[in-house]
Amino acid sequence: MLEQKHLLGLEGYPGKDIQTIIDTAFNFREVLDRPIKKVPSLQGVTIVNLFFENSTRTRISFELAQKRLSADTVNFSASSSSLKKGESFKDTSQNIEAMKIDAVVMRHPTPGSPKHLTNFIDSVIINAGDGTHEHPTQAILDMMSLYEKFGKLKGLRIGIVGDIMHSRVALSNIHGLKTMGAKVTLCGPPNLIPEHINDLGVSYSNNLDEVIEWADALNVLRIQKERMGRGLVPSTREYRSFFGITSDRIKNHKKEIVIMHPGPMNRGVEIDGSVADGDQTIILDQVLNGVASRMSILYLLCGGKTVEGV
Ligand code: CP
Repeated sequence: MLEQKHLLGLEGYPGKDIQTIIDTAFNFREVLDRPIKKVPSLQGVTIVNLFFENSTRTRISFELAQKRLSADTVNFSASSSSLKKGESFKDTSQNIEAMKIDAVVMRHPTPGSPKHLTNFIDSVIINAGDGTHEHPTQAILDMMSLYEKFGKLKGLRIGIVGDIMHSRVALSNIHGLKTMGAKVTLCGPPNLIPEHINDLGVSYSNNLDEVIEWADALNVLRIQKERMGRGLVPSTREYRSFFGITSDRIKNHKKEIVIMHPGPMNRGVEIDGSVADGDQTIILDQVLNGVASRMSILYLLCGGKTVEGV
């Protein structure tokens, strides 16, 4: 149903397939409003969630998506596995596949590890975030949320604000939004902007107020201290004053702007709590659309059966 067997990233991913995933996700979004939020589309399909890195939203929404599609689902946690006894990544994945599984959802701190996994196993592989590389399902749920809000992606002006350098969310959003015809401006401290920005076909500004005036929506990113060496953001107070989505800054702009955040948020750093909880944000809509988007991706990649009303 989709051109590619796996979903490893959105760089070069076909626009027609992004559109199919989003359209199908809106059908599943409607299922989530029913009293019984479950369809039999993936009955008999077995999916393993391989998480080598912490997660709240992605792990739970994948698991919920699997249950709501009636798939059999197993969770793997690296910290309690035989990896701790020295078993290799290759042996671990091949042993899991030997138990007759159909798909793997993997989060791993090493960029490129989902693609590496395709060398070892034949199952469908979905990247749930690989280090600083890509987080394609987050970008799809972000695009679905923009679609829900604006009814289109083509021509939309999206500001991506913050720590772009360490953000897999930023990279997947850039690739996806560009493919779908949106305009993207990155905004953040120059030392947190990747050097290859010109190759990405996006603009850059270090003036957040100008970006707010330009944009239809802002996707605000977390400062990822765990992925930084020391000193990239010497003062969070200074960061907040230049690049924080503060309530004062939002009040000073007399325009409607939609605020997004992939989570987890650092309240009081990249976004004020009052903005995060305010009317302009669609953060919790993103989270709900994450379940629908992941249902759509699993359904399309795992050969789901057509179900009445879906
Ligand atoms: N947005 C996101 O990937 O959140 P988690 O790390 O909690 O999964």
